[in-house]
Amino acid sequence: MLAIIGGSGLTQLSNLDVQRREVVRTPYGEPSGVLLFGRVCNLDVVFLARHGYGHTIPPHMVNYRANIWALQQAGVTGILSVASVGGIRGDMAPGTLVVPHQIIDYTWGRKSTFHDMADRPVVHIDFTHPYDPILRRRLIAAATDAGENVIDGAVYAATQGPRLETAAEVDRLERDGADIVGMTGMPEAALARELAIPYAAISVVANWGAGRADSSEGIGFGTIEGTLQGAMGRVRKVLEKVCA
Ligand code: HPA
Repeated sequence: MLAIIGGSGLTQLSNLDVQRREVVRTPYGEPSGVLLFGRVCNLDVVFLARHGYGHTIPPHMVNYRANIWALQQAGVTGILSVASVGGIRGDMAPGTLVVPHQIIDYTWGRKSTFHDMADRPVVHIDFTHPYDPILRRRLIAAATDAGENVIDGAVYAATQGPRLETAAEVDRLERDGADIVGMTGMPEAALARELAIPYAAISVVANWGAGRADSSEGIGFGTIEGTLQGAMGRVRKVLEKVCA
């Protein structure tokens, strides 16, 4: 069974035929919301809205550990993350769909490991390649099937938020080698790896990064919402093909 974690703009999966809802408690507290079990195109999936179903949980307050733990308890064999990002590289224009291949983590103060209990051995997971190659390929193939363009490969910068970046911060991210910037990719990806759950992401570019192109004087929330609404319809089409 695949899990889909939906981000901003994807708090519902309209093509999910919901069969069961489950409230899950975990040793790490409560997940962002109930798990929705259902079927998309004949495949069992479980859906979770990362920011809560009313979109009330900001990126730095998401209980990533509870979310990933709950999905593992549900028996998922892979996690597809959907999240909106800002575009940094010249071809990452608003509306673009991207399947990133690398991560740079700038977040801080988040509970980013399951291995922090006293008197337990220290664990260092391998994270050289943070995304699962097979799930990445499935996403890219699904996009092709759905007739949607996706960019295969990008370096995702995970920032703390909840504020957007300054123009100088986006310049720095670019110098560091980042192509897109978002606030929720970490520690989600690392926690999935700790539990050995294959994880891949589809990023939806909602806006140009601060200081770039039409974001040179600021980032309008209206612009982000408008772009996301259109793009998430395309993401749903892609997800339907992943499940096919
Ligand atoms: N920065 C960080 N996260 C984001 C952005 C951005 O510009 N757009 C959507 N999520």
